Amino acid sequence: MTAKADYDRFDRFIHWLMAINITLTLIFARGMSSLPDDARVEEYGDHGLSVTTIALCLLIRIAWRARTGFPAMPATMGDLARLAAKAVHYGLYVILVLQILVGLFLASTTELEFVAKGYGINYTSLGLAPAELHDTLLWFHISLYWTIIALLAIHVLASVKHHFIDRDEVLLRMLPFAHRVRARRARN
Ligand code: HEM
Repeated sequence: MTAKADYDRFDRFIHWLMAINITLTLIFARGMSSLPDDARVEEYGDHGLSVTTIALCLLIRIAWRARTGFPAMPATMGDLARLAAKAVHYGLYVILVLQILVGLFLASTTELEFVAKGYGINYTSLGLAPAELHDTLLWFHISLYWTIIALLAIHVLASVKHHFIDRDEVLLRMLPFAHRVRARRARN
């Protein structure tokens, strides 16, 4: 894969659109399966909206990365740090894809219909899994939820370390509107 010099606007847009939707999902989806019917249908709609957006962003991001590449890691990073960074990034992609697949099957097993707001997609009508699998799929869905939280915590802590301890450009190059800070750093 050829490395490009920097992230472009589209890379940053997709990254932050995903980040916002994943954060909202992690905060608001927890406990949804045990809500009373009315509130649950409402939450299903919101969950459907944010996870469909995450799934679309993920597909676009994977295709975009394959097509345009991504910036190289700083030369100052050791072999172990490079390996860890790769493991966390690829791990996040794999776990998110898995979570979306489990979610798709889970949505087929709900007693109330799971319809994504905004997109109007009725995922329950896909009929991908029998209702008896509901509890098992929900268990996997919640386990992957905690795995995503763990990987994201490492991802965020690592980017903060790059900025404040290693003082490299890894965090800044993904931030929108960071041109001035980057120019100032380059001068010093
Ligand atoms: C980043 C991706 C996703 C995350 C982080 C996520 C997270 C969650 C969480 C935390 C819950 C609540 C579990 C509980 O009751 O405590 C949940 C429930 C649910 N999710 Fe997801 N989810 C994701 C993707 C999806 C997708 C793509 C679908 C389907 C298209 C989906 C369908 C469902 C359904 C149907 C429930 C409710 C199950 C029930 O009421 O029994 N999820 N999700």
